[in-house]
Amino acid sequence: MKLTPAQIEDYEREGYLFFPGLFSPAETATLNAEVPKLYAEQRVENVREKDSTAVRTNFAAHTYNDVYRRLAHHPRVIEPAQQVLDDGVYIHQFKINGKAAFDGDVWQWHQDYGTWFNDDDMPQARAMNVAVFLEDVNEFNGPLMFIPRSHKKGRQAAAHDLSTTSYPLWTIDNATITRLVADGGIVAPKGAAGSMIMFHCNLVHASGSNMTPWNRTIVYLSVNSCRNHIRRFHRPDYIAHRDFTPITCLPDDCLRS
Ligand code: SIN
Ligand code: MN
Repeated sequence: MKLTPAQIEDYEREGYLFFPGLFSPAETATLNAEVPKLYAEQRVENVREKDSTAVRTNFAAHTYNDVYRRLAHHPRVIEPAQQVLDDGVYIHQFKINGKAAFDGDVWQWHQDYGTWFNDDDMPQARAMNVAVFLEDVNEFNGPLMFIPRSHKKGRQAAAHDLSTTSYPLWTIDNATITRLVADGGIVAPKGAAGSMIMFHCNLVHASGSNMTPWNRTIVYLSVNSCRNHIRRFHRPDYIAHRDFTPITCLPDDCLRS
């Protein structure tokens, strides 16, 4: 899938692109059907919420589940990333975030590049997240919130938050968020299961807790330019991958066959 020049311009200016309903209901159902099985497994790749057994995030499913392996080679995910990053790309991180009904906890304000720089020594902010909604996302079930254009201001100072949630994150303080929101405001792209968002690794984002009866499962592929691969290997490889081979795409119908 190729982006138009206008879409690339939007991405560069705003820091994200939203593709409502990009994956069909049948493709989304194929992806979603794997999630209960993955979450039921007792394995280190499943990180649970602080105050419940609900899975907060499942790492690296593309390395041990065939449906997610195919998603990691999908041309609707990979080709736009290759185009924007102007390089071969590999998956730096792959996670399926549950944000479970009633139990899904917050993700504090952060930039992903903050963590990838501090923990993994990723040289440059030449990476992005591609998020595919596996459930409908509405204003109530903890949609992703972005501060548009915040990626233009570079990497922000961040502190390692080891206590707010069950997963350590380099987070940005309230004064900085207040200043960034005064300039950019906040948007929360919402839409049906199958929608996709691409966003820059320096775009500041967060999400609230899910107090609704509706799960908000989203799969995130963190895609990095091959030339920009990480230089530090402190985190386990199911969290920060070491295979820097450029991805070759499968056919567009790879989730249908
Ligand atoms: C993230 O920023 O990595 C996850 C945010 C979310 O799933 O709400
Ligand atoms: Mn993030």
